[in-house]
Amino acid sequence: ARPVPVIAIDGPSASGKGTVAARVAEALGWHYLDSGSLYRLVALAGMRAGVALDDEARLAGIAAALPVSFEGGRIWLEGKDVTEDIRAEACSVGASKVAALPAVREALLDRQRDYRAAPGLVAEGRDIGSVVFPDAQLKVFLTASAEARAERRYKQLMEKGMAASMESLLRDLQERDARDAARPVAPLKQLPDAELLDTTQMDVKQAVSFVLERVPAVE
Ligand code: CDP
Ligand code: CDP
Repeated sequence: ARPVPVIAIDGPSASGKGTVAARVAEALGWHYLDSGSLYRLVALAGMRAGVALDDEARLAGIAAALPVSFEGGRIWLEGKDVTEDIRAEACSVGASKVAALPAVREALLDRQRDYRAAPGLVAEGRDIGSVVFPDAQLKVFLTASAEARAERRYKQLMEKGMAASMESLLRDLQERDARDAARPVAPLKQLPDAELLDTTQMDVKQAVSFVLERVPAVE
C-alpha cells in the first residue's frame, strides 16, 4: 500500500505556519498536527507538577504519559481546557527549554507519528520534516521578515486585548531565531528538500494557495 501522505511545514515563530497548516488541513479534509503544542503541554504539565524544566528523566516520563486530548478544536490536559494557557509566554519559554532535552523529544516521537492516518496529515513544527516524517511527500519552509512577523504577533496580541510593544516583540523574535538556529537539537533551518515560501508580502490566503497548488503531486 502507498504510505499515507504528509505535508510538513516548518519556519520561524510567527511566520504563520500554524494558521496556514490548519487551513490547508481543513481545505483537504486531512488531519492536522501542531507539534509545538505538545512541547508546550509538557512544559505546562511539568510546571504544574513542580518539576524543574531541566529534569530530563521526569519530563520524559511526563511526555510519555501526557494525558492530552484535542477534542472540539480545544486542547485538554487531564480533562482541563488549557488552549489559552499553553500560549502564555511562560509556556513558550518553557517549551523551548523542554524541547532541548533529547529524552523528551524521543518520548514524543511515536505520539506524533500516530497522527499519520488516512486520508493524509498536515504537520507543523521544528523537526517535523527532518526527524518525525523525513519521508513527507511535501515539505515547506514558511518564513517572513522579522519585522513582518513581529507585526503579526502584535496584531494577534491586540486582538486578545493583551499589551505588547513592537520593539520588544521584534527583539524577542530575533533573539529566539538566533537561539533556535544555533541549538544542536532540532535547529531551525530550511531542509534541502523543502520549498521556500516567503510570505513577507503575502496574506494567509495566498500562502494557503501556494501549498494547495503543490498537493496534487503528493496524492
Ligand atoms: O509558534 P512558535 O514557533 O512560536 O512556537 P511553537 O511551534 O508552538 O513551538 C514552541 C517551542 O517548541 C519552540 O521553542 C520550538 O522550538 C519547540 N518545538 C520543537 O522543538 N519541535 C517541534 N516539533 C515543535 C516545537
Ligand atoms: O505558528 P506560527 O507561530 O508560525 O504563526 P501563527 O500563530 O500562525 O501566527 C501568524 C499570524 O499572522 C496569524 O494571526 C495570521 O493570521 C497572520 N498571518 C499569517 O499567518 N500569514 C500571512 N501571510 C499573513 C498574516
